[in-house]
Amino acid sequence: GNMKIIKVKNKQDGGEIAYKLIREAHESGATVFGLATGSTPETLYSVLRKSDLDFSDKIAINLDEYIGLAGDHPQSYKTFMKEHLFNDKPFKETFIPDGLAEEESEVKHYNTVIESNPIDVQILGIGTNAHIGFNEPGTPFDTQTHKVALTDATIEANKHNFDSENDVPRFAYSMGIKSIMSAKKIILLAYGENKAEAVANTVSGPVTEDVPSSILQKHPDVVLILDEAAASQL
Ligand code: GLP
Repeated sequence: GNMKIIKVKNKQDGGEIAYKLIREAHESGATVFGLATGSTPETLYSVLRKSDLDFSDKIAINLDEYIGLAGDHPQSYKTFMKEHLFNDKPFKETFIPDGLAEEESEVKHYNTVIESNPIDVQILGIGTNAHIGFNEPGTPFDTQTHKVALTDATIEANKHNFDSENDVPRFAYSMGIKSIMSAKKIILLAYGENKAEAVANTVSGPVTEDVPSSILQKHPDVVLILDEAAASQL
């Protein structure tokens, strides 16, 4: 396929390489940046924060948000983005689903946001079960923004951010696979042994809704930035 794989020594180098790709897109006129949460993009955001790249006329659109958490909740993805990026690197506008909003109106609103601001570069992490955004295995490829029931695997994987497993929200709003695929360029980051199987299935497995990230094989411009452990099953 068209996937370009860049192997890096560690998460720090991965952040630097991802930053270079973002800078190139910025220099060639990208205006809308699709952003992700999770521990994976943290090094990218730390490089971005310290950089002199100006985003004050750029737009950020995040992938997802937990349902039930207010934007100012310490574990909300909105808070994550403020702390890791937006407080130090202001954008003209930032969008993230509202975890307290009612489903029908929020889905409609977020789809309008994405349609009115076509994403130039989308940053992605990946779940151990190959979810992207919060699109869990089985999500139809043609899905736009939707309400998602998180799988046990995802709740388990994300519980370290909460006081206890019971505090992890069970639902989220997520940009759909179709929305993600509409981005002009996609940069997927993965580090660590626990991502190796998902990465191998992404790159060379069958394209199936059981492996949400496998659809990326059909995208014309995907770059995977992997450390050795994440690339170990390729
Ligand atoms: C969450 C996020 C995903 C992220 C995944 C992996 O489920 N919704 O966008 O890719 O976690 O997180 P981490 O990068 O911490 O491994």
